[in-house]
Amino acid sequence: MEIKKAAFVKSSAQLKECPKADRPEYAFIGRSNVGKSSLINMICGRKELAKISGKPGKTRLINHFLIDEHWYLVDLPGYGYAKVSKSMRETFDKMIRSYIRNRENLVNLYVLVDGRHEALKNDLEFMRWLGENQIPFTIVFTKLDKISSAEFNRTFTSYKKKMKEEWEDLPPFHRSSSKNELGKTDILGEIHKLNLELGDHFKT
Ligand code: GTP
Ligand code: MG
Repeated sequence: MEIKKAAFVKSSAQLKECPKADRPEYAFIGRSNVGKSSLINMICGRKELAKISGKPGKTRLINHFLIDEHWYLVDLPGYGYAKVSKSMRETFDKMIRSYIRNRENLVNLYVLVDGRHEALKNDLEFMRWLGENQIPFTIVFTKLDKISSAEFNRTFTSYKKKMKEEWEDLPPFHRSSSKNELGKTDILGEIHKLNLELGDHFKT
């Protein structure tokens, strides 16, 4: 599946400003600078649809993109960005968590983690919270062009081991790189399948 049309819809500071929840929605989340906006651009085949920055903390609002007139992709701000004030971090955190828990058309959340690092405490805590709230999610390992597959396999093995300490069934995983389109087919294929499974759910 290739995306034919991707259009920015709006940026929202909170859940109640988001577009009407009348289409399937898929959101990208993860620590600041992990590559959420880059992955959205890669998947859509567009360089500057979502704003990217070398500096963490670029995306500050909930950004909706309408894909092929049928479903939404959502670019969220990163969590755990140390350089903003504590009160701002708390505001972001509240906004993100309220969106995730209450957005009724959210079909799946993509949790991005940097493929170069061991499992990080705040990523694991965030996933635990998703589990507690029964939010379906998939893990995406990003920036894999920066490491060899042997290096990644080591990280991946230790990641799975760590996850198994608290998860009976591990969530699905994808490998990705926005630089060389790794993961595009898998992620889009998964979304396509989920959209098909929804059938007429969103039709009025
Ligand atoms: P915030 O909006 O600040 O939370 O960041 P983000 O998660 O949206 O990250 P963004 O896509 O803005 O990318 C952050 C930096 O990482 C940029 O300099 C990107 O060019 C770089 N980057 C993102 N994905 C990849 C990748 O797959 N490979 C490489 N080599 N660099 C990447
Ligand atoms: Mg971003």
